[in-house]
Amino acid sequence: MLHQQRLELKRWVPTLLSNHKTLFAVLWIVGFVSVFVWQRNIIEGLLIFRRSSALPMPRLRPVAFNITDFGAVGDGATDNTAAFERAVSAVSKFRSRGGAQLNVPAGNWLTAPFNLTSHMTLFLAKDAVILGIDDEKYWPLMPPLPSYGYGREHPGPRFGSLIHGQNLKDVVITGHNGTIDGQGQTWWRKYRQKLLNNTRGPLVQIMWSRDIVITNITLRNSPFWTLHPYDCKNVTIQNVTILAPIYEAPNTDGIDPDSCEDMVIEDCYISVGDDGIAIKSGWDQYGIAYGRPSVNILIRNLVVRSMVSAGVSIGSEMSGGISNITVENIVVWNSRRAVRIKTAPGRGGYVRKITYRNLTFDGVRVGIVIKTDYNEHPDEGYDPKSVPILEDISFTSVHGQGVRVPVRIHGSEEIPVRNVTFHDMSVGITYKKKHIFQCAFVQGRVIGTIYPAPCENLDLYDEQGRLIRRSASQNMTDIDYDL
Ligand SMILES: *[C@@H]1O[C@H](CO)[C@@H](O)[C@H](O)[C@H]1NC(C)=O
Ligand SMILES: *[C@@H]1O[C@H](CO)[C@@H](O)[C@H](O)[C@H]1NC(C)=O
Ligand SMILES: *[C@@H]1O[C@H](CO)[C@@H](O)[C@H](O)[C@H]1NC(C)=O
Ligand SMILES: *[C@@H]1O[C@H](CO)[C@@H](O)[C@H](O)[C@H]1NC(C)=O
Ligand SMILES: *[C@@H]1O[C@H](CO)[C@@H](O)[C@H](O)[C@H]1NC(C)=O
Ligand SMILES: *[C@@H]1O[C@H](CO)[C@@H](O)[C@H](O)[C@H]1NC(C)=O
Ligand SMILES: *[C@@H]1O[C@H](CO)[C@@H](O)[C@H](O)[C@H]1NC(C)=O
Ligand SMILES: *[C@@H]1O[C@H](CO)[C@@H](O)[C@H](O)[C@H]1NC(C)=O
Ligand SMILES: *[C@@H]1O[C@H](CO)[C@@H](O)[C@H](O)[C@H]1NC(C)=O
Ligand SMILES: *[C@@H]1O[C@H](CO)[C@@H](O)[C@H](O)[C@H]1NC(C)=O
Ligand SMILES: *[C@@H]1O[C@H](CO)[C@@H](O)[C@H](O)[C@H]1NC(C)=O
Repeated sequence: MLHQQRLELKRWVPTLLSNHKTLFAVLWIVGFVSVFVWQRNIIEGLLIFRRSSALPMPRLRPVAFNITDFGAVGDGATDNTAAFERAVSAVSKFRSRGGAQLNVPAGNWLTAPFNLTSHMTLFLAKDAVILGIDDEKYWPLMPPLPSYGYGREHPGPRFGSLIHGQNLKDVVITGHNGTIDGQGQTWWRKYRQKLLNNTRGPLVQIMWSRDIVITNITLRNSPFWTLHPYDCKNVTIQNVTILAPIYEAPNTDGIDPDSCEDMVIEDCYISVGDDGIAIKSGWDQYGIAYGRPSVNILIRNLVVRSMVSAGVSIGSEMSGGISNITVENIVVWNSRRAVRIKTAPGRGGYVRKITYRNLTFDGVRVGIVIKTDYNEHPDEGYDPKSVPILEDISFTSVHGQGVRVPVRIHGSEEIPVRNVTFHDMSVGITYKKKHIFQCAFVQGRVIGTIYPAPCENLDLYDEQGRLIRRSASQNMTDIDYDL
């Protein structure tokens, strides 16, 4: 195009040269165009340079393999399952020698589910995409999780996960922000049309394992929960982007720590079709029998969006107990709920020692939610008299704007919520109405002044911790779901 412009200029030049002013103007234009072309070429040159010298993949283990060494083709069409299986088998030979790294270069690497091995690093280069085959015939079935006794959506076996691991130690999934893409669209459609007879599989599921690190990658379009560490110890998830459509991507939770101990989730961006994070520990009588809590979990520095459910949830499956959870420096934006604890009679277990600190709500319908009638049960075998205990929950530094109902703590006679603390809260509301700080069967305290004004159920203390007024109506009910 620029070439054509130059030719046209040449045609006009003879007639215009008669005039000094136009000559000056023409020279000025020619000068300007040349500088523009020169700059553009420099920028293009830089881009070509960047493309040709892709970021080298760091060597993180004594040995590194390239997935292409095993016959994989990154054309988005070739089935690379056997290549991944051969590669993992090659990596497993080095488990006693510091393990090995499997590099996945830029490309679209289509595969059915495969298993990881211990002492393995899976490294996804920039623009590397592992694509899950979206035909359930390629997805192996597995027995139900013992603490769920049930597939979750259907009784009986469930689909395994695209990337799976059991009884592993020392596994790293990392990269230069490469992607694992579950191609969930087909699964979500089939689920909605009731064409599936088994529970959909997660994108990444690591079970009964320890020393797991997942960083610097993107996970997207999971068929079901995205990242599911199950009964694991010492798990770090850092700097991970998790994406799924915010509507009509059913059950695409971001990260679901389930009966896990010693876990950190930090510096992540999550925008999905269900809970951003949901800490769990098994379901009703199966979870009680399995009896493995989620404990010592630190969640910080996240930006989360959940239009269907909540930014950070605890439950509703929590029958093995959940305790010592810290949730801090979290922004939840354009979401239905910000943080939620959900449970029901029949769950048993407990949720205690939960600390929320420095939460920012930006355009959420309900900020803080505790719900005790989330009545979803695996089968008729649950014991409704098995009630969970909810206690020692604190909220410090909660701010934000554009919130309709800042607080809704809906305890009940059987499941009262005990020892809740609020300190330093100011949330801008969209509704200048009463009943926006809703409570029922909740005992606890407010330290200092908070906005909006708390419900009558809570005791009031001053900033120095001196009692100002003890509530006489902890069990008063002021819940309004119509707001
Ligand atoms: C992997 O192999 C492909 C194809 O042979 C090559 O283009 C790429 O540079 C290799 N990557 C690494 C990290 O060895
Ligand atoms: C992965 O490992 C699990 C547990 O050992 C096994 O049941 C399953 O068949 C394996 N899946 C594949 C695809 O090899
Ligand atoms: C997060 O990952 C991106 C892409 O891989 C990288 O550029 C960035 O430095 C990482 N940040 C941290 C804090 O690890
Ligand atoms: C990683 O990739 C995702 C998806 O393409 C993008 O949204 C995100 O900003 C990237 N992260 C970094 C740190 O570059
Ligand atoms: C699901 O089960 C029904 C009834 O047994 C059967 O007709 C149908 O073919 C099954 N669908 C799939 C996808 O397996
Ligand atoms: C936790 O896992 C990391 C990564 O494998 C490891 O470096 C660390 O030593 C482990 N911590 C404990 C206490 O085992
Ligand atoms: C994530 O990426 C950053 C920047 O490249 C790097 O410093 C960090 O070590 C990476 N994290 C891991 C665990 O590889
Ligand atoms: C609670 O969890 C934190 C991690 O968030 C951990 O550092 C601390 O030791 C745990 N407390 C107890 C009593 O185990
Ligand atoms: C509170 O969290 C925000 C991000 O959500 C962060 O920028 C800020 O530094 C945090 N404040 C404190 C005191 O940690
Ligand atoms: C109430 O919870 C706080 C933590 O939020 C804890 O420090 C305190 O000990 C608890 N009080 C009682 C009486 O258990
Ligand atoms: C509130 O209800 C709980 C049981 O749900 C009961 O233990 C407690 O005594 C009641 N408190 C008051 C002030 O009535």
